[in-house]
Amino acid sequence: MKYIIANWKMNLGIRESVALARGTLHALQGKEKVPEVVVCPSFTALAEVRKTLSRTRMFLGAQNVGPGRAGAFTGEVGVSQLEDIGCTFAIVGHSERRSLGETDSTIGKKLAGLYETGNITPILCVGESKDVRDAGEAEKFVKKELKDALSGLKIGRRRKLLIAYEPLWAIGTGKPASVLEIVPMQEMIRKVVTDITGVDGADLAVLYGGSVDTENAYGFLREPSIDGLLVGGASLKIHDIHAIIESACEVMTAQESL
Ligand code: PGA
Repeated sequence: MKYIIANWKMNLGIRESVALARGTLHALQGKEKVPEVVVCPSFTALAEVRKTLSRTRMFLGAQNVGPGRAGAFTGEVGVSQLEDIGCTFAIVGHSERRSLGETDSTIGKKLAGLYETGNITPILCVGESKDVRDAGEAEKFVKKELKDALSGLKIGRRRKLLIAYEPLWAIGTGKPASVLEIVPMQEMIRKVVTDITGVDGADLAVLYGGSVDTENAYGFLREPSIDGLLVGGASLKIHDIHAIIESACEVMTAQESL
């Protein structure tokens, strides 16, 4: 299975979000083998986008989640509320949130909240800065992020976990990481996550994110160790997200016939 996560970030009103969700949905029509496509609108648009997605093969995700199911956390949106609105995925620990001060301990609480009942699959984002990569410390840094977020977490049996490797220097810069940089990192992530959590096989997907576009998506997706893509800027353009989903369909069909 391949995943395409469309992260719309702090963009679009309700009507525009519904239109983009409908447009994205068209990319799946008439196809037999499709990736799991998850659209992540702003909280304000979740309810309306959910209506568009009902009885379709596309999934609803939140861009963030509060630290627990419910409680006295002004301005946060808790796990119960996301379940209520129909989210089945939630992004946790995106670097843009970390840059606003989100700590590893908060990320750990968010993951624990999501696994408490288990209707929402987390998409945990990790990735190093340019300085860390230049110092040759990228793998060490990402390993620590994984340990800090996942150690002690009670995931339970047969629960899914998605990890998105998103180097900070590749996000929104038009300079994606190369397959040669991504693949060893994906392999390390898979091993470390399985060692810490016990989640493996099809329950664990390791994605790549950072300046994914129509030109590079196919090359990433055809790598067996890259289970999918987290797409920011390009997911806001109907033509681009169609082409990216199309690439995933092609790769899945080709891999099936091997
Ligand atoms: P980008 O964003 O595709 O615009 O680089 C990716 C992300 O931040 O998730």
